Amino acid sequence: MRFSTPAKLFAVAIFLFLGPSSTAWGQISTQSQGGASPRERLRMDFGWRFSLGHVSDLAKDFDYFGGNPYGDAKTGDLAGPPHLRFDDSEWEVVDVPHDWGVTVGYDPEGDSSHGYRKIGRKYPANSIGWYRKTFEIGEDDLGKRVSLEFDGVFRNCRVFLNGHPVWHHESGYTSFGLDVTDYINYGGKNVVVVRADATGYELWSYEGAGIYRHVWLVKTEPLHVARWGTHVLSEITKVGDTPSAALTIQTTLQNDQDAEAKYRLLSTIVDPEGKNVATAASNLSLGPWESDEITQRTEVGKALLWSLESPHLYTLVTTVEQEGRILDTYETPFGLRTFKFDPDRGFYLNGKPMKLKGVCLHQDHGGVGIAVPDRVQEYRVEKVKEMGANAIRTAHNWVAPEMLDACDRLGILVMDEARMSGSSVELLDQLGSMIRRDRNHPSIFMWCVGNEEHKIQGNETGGRIIRTMKRLVRTLDPTRPITLSMNGAWGSVVTEEVDVQGCNYLAIGDIDQLHRDFPDKPIILSESGSTLITRGIYERSDEQGYAIDYDDVVPGWGASAEKMWKICVERDWLAGTFVWTGIDYGGEPLPHDWPAVNSNLGIMDRACFPKNNFYYYKSWWGDETVLHLFPHWNWPGQEGQEKAVWCNSNCEEVELIVNGESLGRSEMPRNSRLKWSVPYAPGYIEVRGYNGGQLVATKRVETTGSAAAIRLTPDRAAIKADKQDVSMVTLEIIDEEGHVVPTAGDVVQLSIEGDGKIIGVCNGDPSCHVLENQTTYPAFNGLLMVFVQAGSDPGAITLKAASKELSPTRVVIEAEPYTLDPSV
Ligand code: GAL
Repeated sequence: MRFSTPAKLFAVAIFLFLGPSSTAWGQISTQSQGGASPRERLRMDFGWRFSLGHVSDLAKDFDYFGGNPYGDAKTGDLAGPPHLRFDDSEWEVVDVPHDWGVTVGYDPEGDSSHGYRKIGRKYPANSIGWYRKTFEIGEDDLGKRVSLEFDGVFRNCRVFLNGHPVWHHESGYTSFGLDVTDYINYGGKNVVVVRADATGYELWSYEGAGIYRHVWLVKTEPLHVARWGTHVLSEITKVGDTPSAALTIQTTLQNDQDAEAKYRLLSTIVDPEGKNVATAASNLSLGPWESDEITQRTEVGKALLWSLESPHLYTLVTTVEQEGRILDTYETPFGLRTFKFDPDRGFYLNGKPMKLKGVCLHQDHGGVGIAVPDRVQEYRVEKVKEMGANAIRTAHNWVAPEMLDACDRLGILVMDEARMSGSSVELLDQLGSMIRRDRNHPSIFMWCVGNEEHKIQGNETGGRIIRTMKRLVRTLDPTRPITLSMNGAWGSVVTEEVDVQGCNYLAIGDIDQLHRDFPDKPIILSESGSTLITRGIYERSDEQGYAIDYDDVVPGWGASAEKMWKICVERDWLAGTFVWTGIDYGGEPLPHDWPAVNSNLGIMDRACFPKNNFYYYKSWWGDETVLHLFPHWNWPGQEGQEKAVWCNSNCEEVELIVNGESLGRSEMPRNSRLKWSVPYAPGYIEVRGYNGGQLVATKRVETTGSAAAIRLTPDRAAIKADKQDVSMVTLEIIDEEGHVVPTAGDVVQLSIEGDGKIIGVCNGDPSCHVLENQTTYPAFNGLLMVFVQAGSDPGAITLKAASKELSPTRVVIEAEPYTLDPSV
């Protein structure tokens, strides 16, 4: 059935009525015009005690639940680790984000889709994690509201405070917060305890384990802005060079006390340069223990729109005042932009048609698992943008708030995805809470309410479920469309329900027929491409679990980058594509199984080192001149054998030179690449790129000497001494002339001096079984990535690298003075 005309008009109207944003949880501001805000948002990341527990062995699970009936039944006196007097002095001290999944080994009998990690029901000794954190709360905090906020715990966690059970949260992907005011020991010691149970899976890839996102302690006055309690809706009322925006601001206030509160709500809009540009004020009152959503309206003239090139961010500063005293201040970053889907012309951002050039990303990263530091989140987004992509799909779960913040800041669009489709109380609660958390992010342009739900995507049950999810989405966010990523059943009752049809994989069905049958329905390739590639591998080595670094091998449902992208550009009505995936991830070790433990489906490997397809996408997605030649030219013993030589480039013409001899100049076909077959002889291969007949770029690949030394290159040589910032140091194995030896796998010993630590190591080898927390590590095809995190002392952090046959080396990273965030 088709989208009826009124439905289509509605769809277009709501997408024009654009969007907003909030950073993570609404930020604290300690100052505002009327003095300091009493709201405190304290980092609770440092100095947790951690121990593995046990699924079934009571003693190894510290007698928790089952020791004695009274010990499990009386609030405030729960036995085992929840108890205030439990002795955790022998437990390991860890900071969060923390993923204990990367500390357990691999097992060929393990679950292949989860990367053969020894975690899950089969491994009862590795799958329960206990965390304890002791902190003080002053007597002067009595009368305030105190909350704990967890951005993400994998998974099925119980939270205890001072021996009381205070929360149970199942999803490993949604954030949650809890008011614990009644349980606080004012003027003394408090202990928060988390038991995470990672025996269950939610996805079919590496999922990690533990408190893997940030934790916060929030103190507010009884009258305060609710968690995720602001929503900025904007409509561009005047377009052109000086657009203006009409803002609707919805603020939820909570009055957690016995008395009625009279107050003034002041909403101030601060522009990207820090100037106040609009305000709205209301005098109101709220009854005891009531909460209310207040709507205010204001306008921004000369609006600076959020775009991919200039991601301008405004801030809503919400101030709650009572008789001249500030009771709360809450900051909400947001952006002003329009977007729409047109069934004939695809996607538009700020009135301009734009093909969505996207990648799907899982949330884990090589070296750190799911405990991805904020800087590494940002680095991932930077690399995706460097490739020329303009969009990310958060497959297949809600992500860390800092990842969305990075997308807002750097200018990349996001399709934000729910872990599972469903209309149960639990799943609607997850959907609702994440939309409230994320809806102010200007980068998010669409909600994806599930992926490949093959049991429901083609039937009435699916239609009913998606209708219910859509109803909730519309209530919380009338500005964005919804989609479902479907691997089949395109054209079913579910197609009628979604605003945009998400099609996974061209081989699954006929998108042209779908477009003909549903001319009013916007269509996007929600999952596509999927070349299986191991970085730097050019000869089949199946027994090692590798694929080759050409755009050649695809799973039955996939298509090469070139085939997929050509289909996409030839169809104006197709809104765009999300390639599976931008970066390799743990688990799903296609095309082989053991010994491979990680995916080969990324355009970059797990360390974000580019594979050759990176340059295919960069050629046709990006704006820069690209000239990239492969394979490497180290084939001793294979002299005279034909080698497939490929060039990814967007130059108009490319000439190939082999050991000084030109093999001629060829036109570079658009959205394609050039290929030759060249007999190997040591020396070099070189390409020269021409535009308008002029030489614009040259790229040479030489036969290198043997490994002689190590080179260390930090992505940033200066980082903040904030106990969080990370420098990503690329380690290269080089020959005497400084060329990277493309086949080198030397084992390197890493060490550090100064106040910093190595939090992980990754070489991008999908079959590497050395744990990420080791400091003796092999390079893979010449490369290794080392993650160096700052401590709190400013000064030099020296990373040293040595290896048996190679000259040792070191690099200095400067940790710059930084006033630590307020924390407990
Ligand atoms: C897709 C699925 C992804 C991933 C991929 C592997 O069908 O949506 O999550 O499993 O296959 O090729």
